[in-house]
Amino acid sequence: MSRSNAKQPDTLYTRLFAKLYNPVMEKLEARLLMDMRRALLTQARGRVLEVGAGTGVNFPLYDPATQVLAIEPAQAMAEQAATVLQQLNASHIQLLEAGVGDAEVSAQLGEGSLDTIVSTLVLCTIPDLEQALKHFRKWLRPGGQLLVLEHIHDDRQPQRWIQSAVTPVWKHLAEGCYLNRRTDELLKDYGFAVETEDYHYTRWVPFYSAVLRMEEKEKNG
Ligand SMILES: C[S@@+](CC[C@H](N)C(=O)[O-])C[C@H]1O[C@@H](n2cnc3c(N)ncnc32)[C@H](O)[C@@H]1O
Repeated sequence: MSRSNAKQPDTLYTRLFAKLYNPVMEKLEARLLMDMRRALLTQARGRVLEVGAGTGVNFPLYDPATQVLAIEPAQAMAEQAATVLQQLNASHIQLLEAGVGDAEVSAQLGEGSLDTIVSTLVLCTIPDLEQALKHFRKWLRPGGQLLVLEHIHDDRQPQRWIQSAVTPVWKHLAEGCYLNRRTDELLKDYGFAVETEDYHYTRWVPFYSAVLRMEEKEKNG
């Protein structure tokens, strides 16, 4: 596993968060998310970037014919992802301890160099969403695809109100996660065209999954 000069500080809290991540997510994964991940990742093709790979939960779902660069800036998460990689013995996946916006990542990715970008439960957390989407646009080849799984701000009440009220505290407890981003709308604003999209409403949070493509005029413009 390569190391990043810009990796996030490794603290007791980030270690605890990484340790608890899979156990906390287990029931939701079994009930909903794993099926959504599987459906999404069967679409991954060619040269793939997975942003914010976390504990490596998506790794077993990639077709070995893909070439995946998985980036993860949190050391404790990246260590768990590295263990999953070892267990899978997956030579088609390379893991880099770094994040979007990190020079080490940009150095590996030329303009239009990717067929697919995978982002699952990351756009809720990434601090500079606008910068990240600009990078995605740059790195994807014309017609390249962005595969997204995300929880989004509700359109139901009182959930919508609660998500906004809770976010200032929640983002400190959950590594910067915002409960009130309308990522589905933002992606369209940033020039991604929807090929397929799905909404799943749990009692407290809606989940969104989509296959999006860079519109040619946006890419060239
Ligand atoms: C909620 S976790 C999701 C992990 C995994 N993708 C999943 O589906 O379970 C969000 C991840 O985004 C990562 N992250 C935060 N900022 C990032 C950035 N700038 N670039 C890439 N990943 C980032 C965090 O370190 C964290 O592992």
